[in-house]
Amino acid sequence: MSRSEAAASGPGPFDVLVIGSGVAGLSAAVRLADAPGALNVGVLTKGELSQSATRWAQGGVAAVLGGDEDSTDLHLADTLAAGAGLCDIDAVRVLVSEGPARVNELIAMGAAFDREASGDLALAREGGHSRPRVVHAGGAATGAEVERALVEATRSSAGAVLERWFALDLVIEAGRCRGVVARPPVGEPIEIRAAHVVLATGGVGQLFAVTTNPPEATGDGVAMALRAGVPVADVEFVQFHPTALHHPAMPRPLLSEALRGHGALLRDARGERFVDELASRDVVSRAMAGRMVEEGTDHLWLDATGLEHFEVRFPTIAASLTEVGLDPAVDWLPIAPAAHHLSGGVVTDLLGATALPGLWAAGETACTGVHGANRLASNSLLEGMVFGARMAEAVLGGVTGPTVTGAMRTVLGDGSDEIPGRRVALAGALDLTAASAASGGADLAKSRDRMQVAMTAGAGVVRTAGSLEGAATALAEVAESWRRSAERATVAGDEIRNLLTVGSALLESAQERQESRGAHTRADFLETEPRWRCRLVHARPAGRG
Ligand code: SIN
Repeated sequence: MSRSEAAASGPGPFDVLVIGSGVAGLSAAVRLADAPGALNVGVLTKGELSQSATRWAQGGVAAVLGGDEDSTDLHLADTLAAGAGLCDIDAVRVLVSEGPARVNELIAMGAAFDREASGDLALAREGGHSRPRVVHAGGAATGAEVERALVEATRSSAGAVLERWFALDLVIEAGRCRGVVARPPVGEPIEIRAAHVVLATGGVGQLFAVTTNPPEATGDGVAMALRAGVPVADVEFVQFHPTALHHPAMPRPLLSEALRGHGALLRDARGERFVDELASRDVVSRAMAGRMVEEGTDHLWLDATGLEHFEVRFPTIAASLTEVGLDPAVDWLPIAPAAHHLSGGVVTDLLGATALPGLWAAGETACTGVHGANRLASNSLLEGMVFGARMAEAVLGGVTGPTVTGAMRTVLGDGSDEIPGRRVALAGALDLTAASAASGGADLAKSRDRMQVAMTAGAGVVRTAGSLEGAATALAEVAESWRRSAERATVAGDEIRNLLTVGSALLESAQERQESRGAHTRADFLETEPRWRCRLVHARPAGRG
């Protein structure tokens, strides 16, 4: 089908429908639409095209792009160490070896990364990295620059851009994904047909009261997969960023890890240092949570007073600090951990194929296996670029279904994999299919707040069986009020349904995993146990939750 035919007949049918407009979705869309014999590609997003978590990403893109001191083997080793035994080594090898070429393509597309006076790319160091290898733009406005370049390219190449459309559920026929049911900006939900659907809807930060993620991060793609029974894994591993500004603004302004890479120090209420500032994020967030409990405070301090030329190197962070009356040259900056990134998601193979033929997943929505139990800093924009591009190449090459590679081995393998899959029991799963008669009483905004507060208290940096149980009880109550709400068939109601679906899967996995590993810390099971070196996989019967 040609692009003009698609435009004339409204949305679809598409060769490929990409849901979401962050780095992963747009990297795929641009490649597909620009390939010789271009496919008819639609991009559907619930906001505007440029409205995604990508534009909030600060630090940068980790890729081995300069200097003899670094190598892809070192990047691989750092990624595996951060992932605490759950990275898929093949997926990580793909990530680190294909990453540099993807960054160079983005530069060719017009993205402007920061450079030294010599003209070489400026490289920053972040936690868990043994070498400086993080390229950045605008100081710490990397995501905004990446998104700008991709949005421009998408607007000039995609067959259709459907803004303010909300994808509700997958259309599955004869064991294959054939499109989605979506809510248009005005009117009733309709079916949009597509030969291939790509889930690239980002993460789940809005499950928590304190997050660096924008309001759109409601786990929509992961929830659609869960409802359709498509395997989802590693959702207990939510990464908390240690240095979000302690301030009422939501999303929380981030104080990039690059500040610590440049020498900023963490201090407790007494002004003492208490952790290696360049340890991986799980280690730093856990140490902070422990120190805050000991000192009975809700925040600690980032001391960046020793950093020279702060406003030149970090202009966007300097501007957001000025807005709240802080001067990094003299003030210690109040900080606390905030929900930041989901390491797991919809299980894919090394090409981005999910277990359901015709359905693909990329970026934070996917579980490719590259992050394991804890993502290495600045590996997420990279994951979106690398696996978005791979997925596009696979579709162009005629691949129609999943292979037993990467994280998919834990779903389709013969059980002999180094990291086996283990199905999560469904005992506590919420059933959101049976809507009660609308009584109109439930206030959706209050329900969302209630869920976020309960998840932060019960499934935050440090968890116990009791805290997780408390969060599960709160989610069950929120689900009951959602079922009774006259507003449930609105975008606000759709988002709560998705958050409840993903939140209940997260709680089930976190309850099941009786150990501490990476970003999942159980105060009642503090050790990392070899027997838990497995992926917890949800593949609930289609239609539930
Ligand atoms: C940061 O700049 O600290 C965030 C970058 C990331 O999450 O990788």
